[in-house]
Amino acid sequence: MKDHPIIVGLDIGTTKITTVIGEVAEGGSVDIIGEGSVLSEGMKRGSVVNLERATHAIRQSVQAAERVSGVKVERVFVSVAGNHAKAITSHGLAAIRRNQEINQPDVDRAIENARAVPLDPNLEIIHTLPQEYVVDGQEGIKSPVGMHGVRLEVDVHIVAGTAGPLLNLRRCVQEAGLQVDGFVLHALASGLATLEAVEQMQTVIVVDMGGGTTDVGVFKRGNLAHSACIPIGGEHVTADLAQILKIPLEEAENVKKRYGAALPELADQDLTLEITTASGSTHAISAFELSRIIKPRLAEIFSLIRDEIDHTLGPVELVAQGVVLTGGAAQLRGVAELARDRFRLPVRVGKPRGIGGLTDIVSGPGQAASVGLVLYGIGQDGKVPHSVFRHDPQAEKVPGLIEVTAPVVTAPPPSTPAPKAARADGEGLMDRVRNWFKDWM
Ligand SMILES: Nc1ncnc2c1ncn2[C@@H]1O[C@H](COP(=O)(O)OP(=O)(O)O)[C@@H](O)[C@H]1O
Ligand SMILES: [Mg+2]
Repeated sequence: MKDHPIIVGLDIGTTKITTVIGEVAEGGSVDIIGEGSVLSEGMKRGSVVNLERATHAIRQSVQAAERVSGVKVERVFVSVAGNHAKAITSHGLAAIRRNQEINQPDVDRAIENARAVPLDPNLEIIHTLPQEYVVDGQEGIKSPVGMHGVRLEVDVHIVAGTAGPLLNLRRCVQEAGLQVDGFVLHALASGLATLEAVEQMQTVIVVDMGGGTTDVGVFKRGNLAHSACIPIGGEHVTADLAQILKIPLEEAENVKKRYGAALPELADQDLTLEITTASGSTHAISAFELSRIIKPRLAEIFSLIRDEIDHTLGPVELVAQGVVLTGGAAQLRGVAELARDRFRLPVRVGKPRGIGGLTDIVSGPGQAASVGLVLYGIGQDGKVPHSVFRHDPQAEKVPGLIEVTAPVVTAPPPSTPAPKAARADGEGLMDRVRNWFKDWM
């Protein structure tokens, strides 16, 4: 039997660590042959805070995936949360000799020139992502090789990681007996795994909603053109519930997953929960009220993303055609509807796609990044990838917007004044909710 290349993604998140093993089949398609997920240890907001514990969890996750696949893992592509990354877009230019076709060295020269920007010595470049090319003023060219012109220009999105956190991540992976094939920005991996062919022709905002961070990537015609990281995630929603309901974090996490909704209108209107507080007293809370605690934090995350994009790229509604939510926290009921309300764009929840094999074991939005790492790995041939997506000419022929399945929900005006966005540290939260629950608190 012929040996097929094996590519392994290791997504080291704040909540969980996931290893996904992919086997490259004939024709370049990928079959998932193993997966191992364990609760994360030694990580906080995308950073290693305890080397030993993180190493231990990495080992556990990899071993679980090895057991499923029967493959020994030696090298891995590793995700990097966006809060350690700085991204800039830089312009590169190459002159082309008259009467000569543009060749690959010309393209490489244009990219190299774009890369020649002064960077903080504390930063290590992890991605050099060329956007579309411009030949003699003609914009929107995906592949300029073979064309004629005298002036080749390219915008390159450069993503650089802070050296310290990258070294810590590398150290943990190496201590776990593995080599790092490459670091990959979390939002890039998530987009690679979730964007449909039509979305690869549009400008789409990918929002990976993790536990400690929400990673954002703006993909323009299949290229990562902008990235950001909001240091708030699903853990903060859980912490809000625990604080307000006075229950332990684990219980708040369970309540959120089972009964929570991002919009009170979408909560189970007939459901009332009996809550026993840490001090032993009990009280009842409806699922509707539960969702009123959950909503502000998620709305805050979406507002921060909106502000970020408004500042850097322009008004969200004009910049993008759609939003794809992914990551574990995108599984909360009503989250797409809330996002649609905030972004005023079509929103869907994205799950891993473009793979074969054991697809059922990596079918959730929480596995998008780990599957994306494998897909990224396939695009690597030791050279700068020209497009992170493999170009599918069929996709160009499909017009229109992305398909949207979730219904549009317009929230009724709140009876109390709209709460101000909470700060990341949760300050002011009690004030916001005291009004809502003054009857029973
Ligand atoms: N079914 C669910 N409903 C709501 N939230 C969920 C659900 N499953 C997971 N989450 C939340 O997703 C977050 C973890 O996201 P995930 O992408 O899995 O991890 P990481 O933080 O490691 O990137 C947690 O805050 C968790 O509460
Ligand atoms: Mg994650």
